[in-house]
Amino acid sequence: MKTLKIRLTGLPVSFFVLFVLTSCGSRELKIPIHPTYQSIQAITISQKCLMCHESISSYEGLLQTVQPGNPAGSDLYKQITNGSMPQWSPKLSDAEIQAIYTWILNGAQND
Ligand code: HEC
Repeated sequence: MKTLKIRLTGLPVSFFVLFVLTSCGSRELKIPIHPTYQSIQAITISQKCLMCHESISSYEGLLQTVQPGNPAGSDLYKQITNGSMPQWSPKLSDAEIQAIYTWILNGAQND
C-alpha cells in the first residue's frame, strides 16, 4: 500500500514539472516551421521595418518587394541578406531571414 501511495502522488508531480518546463519554452517568440504572411508581418516587418516603411504595412505593399517563388530575385530578401536592411539596426536573425526566404519560396501567399 505504501508504494502505491507514493506512485499516485508522484504522477501529478511529474505532470506539474512537465507543465512548467513546456510553459517556459512557449514564452519565447516562436518562428513557425511553415512561415505565413501573418507570422512574418507580426514577428519581423511590423517590429523592425514599419517605422521607416509605411508602404510595406499591407500585404499588397510587401508584395511589391517580392517575386513569389524567387527569394534571390526579391528586393526584400536581397536587402535583408546584403546588410542594407533594417537600416541602422542589427541584422535580422538567421531564423527570421530563413522564415522570409521560405515564405517567398512558397509563393508569398497572403496566409
Ligand atoms: C531606419 C529606417 C529603415 C528601417 C528600420 C528599414 N529600412 Fe528599408 N529602407 C530605408 C531607406 C531610407 C531605404 C531607401 C534608401 C536605400 O536604398 O538605401 C530603404 C530601402 C529598402 C528597400 C529597397 C526598396 C525600396 O523601397 O527602395 C527594401 C526592400 C527595404 N528597405 C526593406 C526593409 C525591410 C524588410 C526592413 C525591416 C527588416 C527595413 N527595410 C527596415 C530605411 C529603413
